[in-house]
Amino acid sequence: MELRIPPHEMLARFEDVNIAAPMVRYSKLPFRELVSSYEAHITHTPMILAKEFSRSSSARASDFTTSKSERGIFTMRERRPARTGPIDLDLEANLAHDSVHSGVQVQGALVAQFAATDARTFADACELISPYVDGVDLNCGCPQSWAYQEHIGSYLLRQPETVRDIIRGAHDRCGWNFPVSIKIRVDDDTRCTQRLVETAIQAGASHISIHGRTRHQASTAPVSLSAISFAVSCAKGLVPTVANGDIFTLSDARSIRSETGVDGVMAARGLLANPALFADEGKNGTPDEAVKRFVKLGVGYGLQFGSIHRHVAFMLESRLTRPGMKYLNSLVSTPALLDFLAEIGILDGGPLL
Ligand SMILES: Cc1cc2nc3c(=O)[nH]c(=O)nc-3n(C[C@H](O)[C@H](O)[C@H](O)COP(=O)(O)O)c2cc1C
Repeated sequence: MELRIPPHEMLARFEDVNIAAPMVRYSKLPFRELVSSYEAHITHTPMILAKEFSRSSSARASDFTTSKSERGIFTMRERRPARTGPIDLDLEANLAHDSVHSGVQVQGALVAQFAATDARTFADACELISPYVDGVDLNCGCPQSWAYQEHIGSYLLRQPETVRDIIRGAHDRCGWNFPVSIKIRVDDDTRCTQRLVETAIQAGASHISIHGRTRHQASTAPVSLSAISFAVSCAKGLVPTVANGDIFTLSDARSIRSETGVDGVMAARGLLANPALFADEGKNGTPDEAVKRFVKLGVGYGLQFGSIHRHVAFMLESRLTRPGMKYLNSLVSTPALLDFLAEIGILDGGPLL
């Protein structure tokens, strides 16, 4: 029987925890199930507007669907407890041997991300979704101007008291064991990062994900590892931390982990291009099998053609020629897309489902 634990406990207890980032329009059920089959241990829904979600059942139906099979089952290695005192070389060798050979079977975790500007709407949304997820996350990073004007997303980066009230409100409503995390961007003014991280932890944040760009930086700007490390230092080891930004390969994941001292790593665009990025199968680029599996999941779950099409375009971008990409972009139906994938040898032309 696999272990079922909340995301922050997974981060605290196991090595090399990999996370699929929240992505509006993209991190829906079929994509989450796909990346969960390739070593993404924690997945996120796209950002959901808490106000709409709690107000309207049709918004709930369109914003969130889940299935029993979306979480993966993983063999994970327990972290070695920090030891003090003189090192016993025999003991070290035994522990190293044990940690290689004794993996623990762990079920993946699903986190719903909400955008909210006040405690009540966030708590309402959390209460409605809590039976179906393993935790909720407060978006404190969306940089878009409409979001800033609505006082959600990155607006909250400099509103630590509001973040505190939102986290506390969710705990009051859903219980203090219900995990409430936050996802932040770094700030040019490091005092703001420090206040936000410290206040969120005091309010009971379960873990903190840190995107190493400021709200003014485009996704083409390089991520600041030193800014992530600073945020990690503000958490003082009281809760797990996660680094996010510019992870496109397994080796990027390893180096950002070791350079910032985080407990987990989170990828967004890298997983769109290669959903197997965290797995051995993805080390030479997007496996055909991932494209095939995604199309099957998308069709099976009734994902709209436009969404399936965009995902496939992301996955094939690096290997199609310009005319090939142009042709792919011109397709307007699922059967035409399936024919194209069969033509280029990704689908074998047999029945998909
Ligand atoms: C298409 C897209 C949609 C995104 N939607 C969200 C979202 O819903 N919530 C969120 O916190 N961040 C969102 N982001 C930001 C990512 O989660 C992530 O922080 C950012 O892309 C940096 O990671 P990366 O360099 O791995 O792409 C989105 C990014 C992309 C590319």
